Amino acid sequence: MLDVQHTGQPSVTRREDYLVPDWMVPETSLDFALDPAATTVEATLSVERNGEHDRPLRLDGDGLTPELVRVDGEDWSNWCMDGPTLVIELPGASHTVETRVTICPERNTQLMGLYSSGGILCTQCEAEGFRRITFFPDRPDVLSRYKVRMTADKARYPILLANGDPVASGDAGDGRHWAEWGDPFPKPSYLFALVAGDLAANRATFTTQSGRDVQLAIWVREKDLPRTDHALHALKTAMAWDEATYGREYDLDVFNIVAVDDFNFGAMENKGLNIFNSRYILADPDTATDYDYDGIAGVVAHEYFHNWSGNRITCRDWFQLSLKEGFTVFRDQSFSADQGSHAVKRIEDVRALRAAQFPEDAGPLAHPVRPDAYQEISNFYTATIYNKGAELIRMMATMLGPQRFRAATDLYFDRFDGTAATCEDFVTCMEEAGGIDLIQFRRWYSQAGTPRVTATLTHEAGGGRAVLSLRQTVPPTPGQPVKEPMVLPLRIKLFGSDTGAELGDEHLVLLSGESEEIIFEGISERPVLSINRGFSAPVIVETNRTPADLAFLSARDDDPFARYEAMQQLMLDTLVASVTHGRAEHDNVVEAVRNTLGDETLDSAFIAEAVLLPSESFIGDQMPLVDPEAIHRAREALRRDLGRSLEREWRAAYEQAKANRFEYSPAAKGARRLKTVALGYITASGAPDAASLAFVQFEQADNMTDRQGALTTLAGGTSDERVAALDIFYNRYSDNSLVLDKWFSTQALSARDDTPEQVEQLARHPDFKLSNPNRARSLIGAFSVNQRAFHDASGRGYRFVADQLIALDKINPQTAAKLLPPLGRWKRVDAKRAEMMRAELERILAVPGLSKDMFEQASKSLE
Ligand code: ARG
Ligand code: ZN
Repeated sequence: MLDVQHTGQPSVTRREDYLVPDWMVPETSLDFALDPAATTVEATLSVERNGEHDRPLRLDGDGLTPELVRVDGEDWSNWCMDGPTLVIELPGASHTVETRVTICPERNTQLMGLYSSGGILCTQCEAEGFRRITFFPDRPDVLSRYKVRMTADKARYPILLANGDPVASGDAGDGRHWAEWGDPFPKPSYLFALVAGDLAANRATFTTQSGRDVQLAIWVREKDLPRTDHALHALKTAMAWDEATYGREYDLDVFNIVAVDDFNFGAMENKGLNIFNSRYILADPDTATDYDYDGIAGVVAHEYFHNWSGNRITCRDWFQLSLKEGFTVFRDQSFSADQGSHAVKRIEDVRALRAAQFPEDAGPLAHPVRPDAYQEISNFYTATIYNKGAELIRMMATMLGPQRFRAATDLYFDRFDGTAATCEDFVTCMEEAGGIDLIQFRRWYSQAGTPRVTATLTHEAGGGRAVLSLRQTVPPTPGQPVKEPMVLPLRIKLFGSDTGAELGDEHLVLLSGESEEIIFEGISERPVLSINRGFSAPVIVETNRTPADLAFLSARDDDPFARYEAMQQLMLDTLVASVTHGRAEHDNVVEAVRNTLGDETLDSAFIAEAVLLPSESFIGDQMPLVDPEAIHRAREALRRDLGRSLEREWRAAYEQAKANRFEYSPAAKGARRLKTVALGYITASGAPDAASLAFVQFEQADNMTDRQGALTTLAGGTSDERVAALDIFYNRYSDNSLVLDKWFSTQALSARDDTPEQVEQLARHPDFKLSNPNRARSLIGAFSVNQRAFHDASGRGYRFVADQLIALDKINPQTAAKLLPPLGRWKRVDAKRAEMMRAELERILAVPGLSKDMFEQASKSLE
């Protein structure tokens, strides 16, 4: 499978090599005779020579054999195969080219191209899956108008869907039927989609701001219909939000969403026919947590928003991926924030950035938001492209302010509608409409690595001055040893440590040099620094603030994110000290948590986030070398102390939240969150009734959030209730694969000493199958972020993950390669562990027939 060129090296695609397409394809017509074992695809392309040249038409293919090639209606012999690519010599400036191929959806385990999921035929084409369906110039800057005809067995596939609007349908005889769809909007091949299956729809009508009716439908198997209301509601809310917030209206008469169980990632924004991983559609209180509900609304909105940021304006080439993904993540984050608490949403987004993107940026797979080269583009659907990309948009929005940012996005949508654009095009619109210079800011697109800011505040009491010294460094990353300073928008405010008063307004400081000093006049009392408020720049900040300063801010800062951040920093400083010195004073943390718990001005959701200790991995990220056992011990000790010292408070919080009946509202969600956080601390205290308290919550829960929260608490311990709860949970949900995923991941994330063994056993469980990406991720993915278990000193965790990935690579290389990065972080651990991790990477690389996806990830990880 590894595509090796004549040099013996996998081929590298470089951004600087971009050339405009040799041929355009204004019209595409596809005819599918659908069958799971053998589907024939006839393609008719109108092609036009682009510019003055005599080069042939090159049509990408992947595993395809041409059964017929015709030009302008005649059989054509002037073609050849160049590896997987069909090369056709054409005499004139425009022609009609026909090809036919046969593909086998039911044997497509990679889940790219046309495949079968639970009896539903569906497609996934981004980034380069269309070439597994038919020969085509499979690159995002070739925009074509598509007509699609499908014929299929009527009983097995009563519903036939494709992009755009339905045109006609009818009976084809022999128990078969046909349907035609047409998409009036020119689109790149990666946005092509079709679905055939026995599906039922949850329908609604949305009236756009200009008064057009759009028929909405969410298609699932009949039995899943009752779990689609939340997704449909989210879709309508997102459509209205995009009109109100960005002035963007939907443009077709229908909008279809289909949910399938086997899907490589979250969902896909195909024009007018989004295809989703069922975990981002199906929800009811009994089977989905609040976190799942939020995820569904966020992903439904994300894919819908792509209709403008992605589809109407697409990417010139895959190096521009963040143009659509960074912007669309920023849009979905803003949407979700508007549905509930902005503060809590920001905390969650920053936590996700720090958990996934910061480690990526600090490791062997670090790459800029606009990469320069790739071997396999699928490996670049990363937290850097998505989440850091969203932070770049957020920084520009912060610098422009809301009115000018809206003017800039209006300009962008207006100027580039119907085209394939670049990140540079987007930034130029921000500059023009924002009236600012973003020359230096552009480094955020080209330089990888998380900038580090040192902020030192000194106070000259006599002169009434405070001096803030800021320094930035950007660490070296693979291929980028030396970095230039970035533009860092830092929201800053000072507070008086005696009076608690605000010492002046908030400032937006644009740190652009390596170092800078900011003078504050008229500061008579000792100031406390609140910096990077709202996480205005995606950087690491180190300050000279004392534990007392942090405790002060955690109780007094008027920016909720800064308040949370101060508490996190206080906890981190305490935990790092305790890992380094074997012990640390816990009093500051205990008192700060006590204050937060008792603060009646705060809502439960915020309190729950603020009192939660940083994860073991995040603590590890603060240390020069990760000692997984020491980190675990230090964190457990602090948890126990917090549990014991505040037992009365935790129990009170628990009792208060318990009164809550199920409702999906921000307040009810906050109460549930705080309830389970409190349960965790009661358990950590070692209280003898903790397990029975958790078991009662588990049994009496009227919703999955409470039930899974209790299960997670029990799963980390050794009580009899743990075994009982896991069994009950399994039996109750054995026919629901999304809930069974939780059963697997809860055990893989457990803090128990025997988790590595348990996980090996779970991999032999009859319900474990690598062919379903959700299931594979629920065990392997969850286990490899369980820092202590994954880094078990025996090395069995590494061996387990490598074994699984070697097996998975043969089935689904894309999903396998996505799960590899934790094995590549060997520089972060001691020499013995590092040696074992490297040995597993070597073992993976030695596998004959390794995919190019895995080859790229594993070889880069060894460097
Ligand atoms: N564009 C899709 C989304 O952001 C994800 C596609 C991922 N494709 C891939 N090859 N990993 O919603
Ligand atoms: Zn996306």
